[in-house]
Amino acid sequence: MVLVTGGAGYIGSHTVLELLNSGKQVVVVDDLSNSSDVALKRIEDLTGKKVIFYKENVANQNALDSIFKKHKIDSVIHFAGFKAVGESVEKPLMYYDNNLSSTISLLKAMNKANVKKLVFSSSATVYGLPDSVRFIETFTTSSLNPYGNTKKVIEEILIDESGADKNLRVALLRYFNPVGAHKSGLIGEDPRGIPNNLMPFITQVAVGKREKLSVFGNDYNTRDGTCIRDYIHVVDLSLGHLLALDALDKKTGVLIYNLGTGRGSSVLEVVNAFIKATGVNVPYVIAPRRAGDAPEYFAATDKAQKELGFVATHSLEDMCRDHYNWQKNNPNGYN
Ligand code: WQD
Repeated sequence: MVLVTGGAGYIGSHTVLELLNSGKQVVVVDDLSNSSDVALKRIEDLTGKKVIFYKENVANQNALDSIFKKHKIDSVIHFAGFKAVGESVEKPLMYYDNNLSSTISLLKAMNKANVKKLVFSSSATVYGLPDSVRFIETFTTSSLNPYGNTKKVIEEILIDESGADKNLRVALLRYFNPVGAHKSGLIGEDPRGIPNNLMPFITQVAVGKREKLSVFGNDYNTRDGTCIRDYIHVVDLSLGHLLALDALDKKTGVLIYNLGTGRGSSVLEVVNAFIKATGVNVPYVIAPRRAGDAPEYFAATDKAQKELGFVATHSLEDMCRDHYNWQKNNPNGYN
């Protein structure tokens, strides 16, 4: 049985779906502060399987202890955490408290219950701004903002804990830019308020919820002047978690993998792919640069491919089509 913290969230819910489809049993702990239990109900409809769900904050040590006592949990995937870069700059203490306290509580509960396999939802943001645009797992980590620093510090906590407890096996999965949705259009990304990220903003323009997209700068030193990122379909990303979980049955210590496609796409290339994939226009204006944006980066995928057998199979157009399909079916998200 796999405990999934934050399992009602965007990436968490897609991973819960794939875990159930692969025959595993799942317990979800999620405080629903940035997600909806409708996602879990829809997963049960899609799979015909039960999702055991506890509406709890992962920092609640007693709640975790009783869940580990009640269920025969053999591994954990840890998604729960605040993840808005801008908000983390305004409220750093809230981010450090929530993201670090929940991880420490989780590790204490796992230790008490002798659960020794953990997959952690990390991020390419831990690379900071290295000289190279192609990020490799051996690069040193740094932080650009409080959110990114919580991911970097949690990685270090897990590395140190696994160094002290030789039985603790950890996989750190560094996501690039997750987009898209399950082909059913029943689960997807449901940002609160104005979306920070590119794809949900595009899909909200496409369904008429927003007037136009602002392209944050077209004067970068890139092939078309707009920023380049490695967008990866959320279903590919979710399947990467199942491969990492399996790897922890065979390998000890700390495993670190990029989860990306290895290809970069510019903002304008995403807009054009979206229009091509959906036939829906996306009006946009060129706006000033957004502070903190790096001109270009994408994943080195050799290690994940060689050691996990991970290969992202969905194209950028698949990502656009599936994200739009979710947004069209759910113009107001889950509510
Ligand atoms: C992508 C590109 C924007 C919105 C962020 C976090 C990162 C990770 C993934 C959690 C950039 C441009 C965006 C818009 C735009 N999150 N853009 N207009 O910044 O690469 O990564 O999400 O782990 O930590 O930093 O993703 O989607 O915000 O931006 O032009 O309305 O799209 O400038 O170049 P980003 P993004």
